[in-house]
Order: sequence, then structure tokens, then C-alpha cells
Amino acid sequence: MKKVLVIGGGAMGSAFTVPCLDNNNKVTITEPYSKKFIRDLSSKNKFHSSLKIKLSKKLKFKKFSENLLKEKFDLIAIALSLSGIDFIGKQLKKAKVKAPILILTKGLKYEKKKNKIFTISEQLKRNYNLMNISVLKGPCLAKELARKNQTSVIVANRNIKIAKQIGKIVSTKYYLIDFSTDVTGVEVCSAIKNIYSMLIGAGQNLNTSSSLFQRSINEMKYLTRYFKGKESTTLGLAGVGDLYVSAAGGRNSKMGNYLGKGYTFKNAKKKFMPNDTVEGEQLVREIAPFILRRMNKTRIPLMINLIRAILKNKKLKVN
Ligand SMILES: NC(=O)c1ccc[n+]([C@@H]2O[C@H](COP(=O)([O-])OP(=O)(O)OC[C@H]3O[C@@H](n4cnc5c(N)ncnc54)[C@H](O)[C@@H]3O)[C@@H](O)[C@H]2O)c1
Repeated sequence: MKKVLVIGGGAMGSAFTVPCLDNNNKVTITEPYSKKFIRDLSSKNKFHSSLKIKLSKKLKFKKFSENLLKEKFDLIAIALSLSGIDFIGKQLKKAKVKAPILILTKGLKYEKKKNKIFTISEQLKRNYNLMNISVLKGPCLAKELARKNQTSVIVANRNIKIAKQIGKIVSTKYYLIDFSTDVTGVEVCSAIKNIYSMLIGAGQNLNTSSSLFQRSINEMKYLTRYFKGKESTTLGLAGVGDLYVSAAGGRNSKMGNYLGKGYTFKNAKKKFMPNDTVEGEQLVREIAPFILRRMNKTRIPLMINLIRAILKNKKLKVN
């Protein structure tokens, strides 16, 4: 039995506690930001308002604090949104955390001063000196994992032994884990699939979407290589695996569908999705300054068209 701390009581953090508990670990969850999730997790019946299920009575909720981070854990999993990464980096550094860290958050960060794009694990290493970091990504709808539907994800660490140790802690017969040493490739793929699922969603019939799917994979391969990941990672769970689930449903492809119908981003957001976070849009805004200035635009025409559509609020062209 290992001691696991999950930071982030949103849909994914809470769903992740389900296999961790089923694998007989002692699991604590904490929520540093959202009053709604604190209310859900500290309530008697532990009904989670996003997952729409009651979480296990065995799951322990603790208030977020520096002292909590100083407790001894065998694994600390981070499932905050990208906007919470700097915050948690600072907190983990302050508490001098030495436990292995597992990042579930998906995204990339552009650093203006360096004019470079960093993955989340690179950011945490560079800015907060956190060393023992692995990442877990792949096609996983939180609601389905929470209901114990079969789910396959990938854990990456340059040291495959560490990845496998983490696999032992979190896997169950319904939560299957692949392993990889290509941390960069896994992180890049799991972030950019949010952009490409929007593009695939823009197809207004299956033939067009299939053609966009194939072109998206080519661009994802190019981008993964460009950022020094392995091209083959694109064809694994963090790449095509996650692209499939995001293109088949979810907020990115829903927004893509409106863009494909001819709506501008602003109009579609206001009219149909005013309260939804569209992760692909956030990532476009984050990485566009780098992509537009530094990359060969002819290699990634779909990405460039989507960047223009979002930043200039113009109709999206996918042909
Ligand atoms: N690795 C995987 O298998 C997997 C699967 C699904 C989603 N995800 C990723 O997990 C992350 C969370 O997704 P979710 O579905 O749980 O989202 P959610 O909206 O349900 O939860 C977001 C979490 O981030 C916190 N948060 C938001 N803004 C914050 C801020 N400014 N500072 C600190 N904390 C903040 C919230 O309080 C909450 O804990 C996303 O990056 C998503 O892409 C990973």
C-alpha cells in the first residue's frame, strides 16, 4: 500500500483517485483553487458535481496547505489546469518536496524572454528545480474512468524503471498503462491534439473529417519531431489515441464544428459555448507567437489556418 496525494479535485484529479484506491493505496485528494470542488470533496456523500457520481468513502480529502505537501507521500499526482502549474510549482518548491511527481495536466507554455516553447515537465524543472517528474497522458475521459470503463494511458519518464514503478501504483484491470521514455514527445502530442481535434471537428461530413484526420497526423508528426520528441510517439496513446477521443466528442471538436460551419470564433463562443473552456483555443493563443515567428508555415498549414482564424477572428479555411 502506497501513499498517494492527488492535487486537483476537478474531473480528472477526482477520477484518477478511483484506480488508485482500487489498487489498495491510501489516497488523499486536495483542491487549492475551486470552492465548488472543495465543497464536493469535503461533503459527507462525496458527490462530485462534474463526474456526477459519489466518490469512495475511502478517499480522504485534506485542505491544501504547505504542511500537507510536507507529509511523506510515495507519489504526488498533479491534475490542475495549465493555469495552475506555476502556482503548484512554487508551492512544491517551497515545501521542498522530494516525492515522485506525476503530471496529468496537458499543455505547453511559451516563454517570451527565451522565445521558446516548454513542456510542463520542462517548466517545473527549469523554474522550480523539481527533478523527480513523470507524466501520464492519453485518451481518458474523466467520467468514463470514474465509472471504471476500460482506459489505456501512457506514463513517461526518461528512466523507464521509474515509469514502471508508477504504473504498479496506479494500474488496475480497467486502467491499463503503457510506458515510454519519450517524455517530450508524449507531452507535445497530448497538448497539440487539442488543436487538431478542433480542426477535425471542422469537417462537416465524415469524408472531410477523415481527410483532416490524416493531415492532422502528418502535422503532429512534424511538430513532435520539431520539439525533439520521437515521431513514433504520435502513433501511440498520447497522439492518435488521444486525438481520436477528442475528435469524436468534447469541447474542442464542438468548437471546431461551429468554425467549420462558418462562424467566427468569437461568435461561436458567445452564442454556443459562453461558459466552456476550450483548451485548444487557449493553447493556440499560448504558442501562436512562437509558431508564427519561428516555424516553417508550409509544414503545418492546418495549424496556421486555425491560428489565423482564432487570433484574427476570421472564418476557418480547411481546404
Ligand atoms: N492525463 C490524463 O489522462 C488527462 C485526462 C483528461 C484531462 N487531463 C488534463 O487534466 C487537467 C484538468 O482537467 P479537468 O478535466 O480535471 O478540468 P476541471 O476543470 O474539472 O478541473 C480543473 C482543476 O484545475 C484547478 N484550477 C483551475 N484554474 C486554476 C488556477 N488558476 N490555479 C490553480 N488551480 C486551478 C481547478 O480548481 C481544478 O482542480 C487538464 O489539463 C486536462 O487536459 C488529463
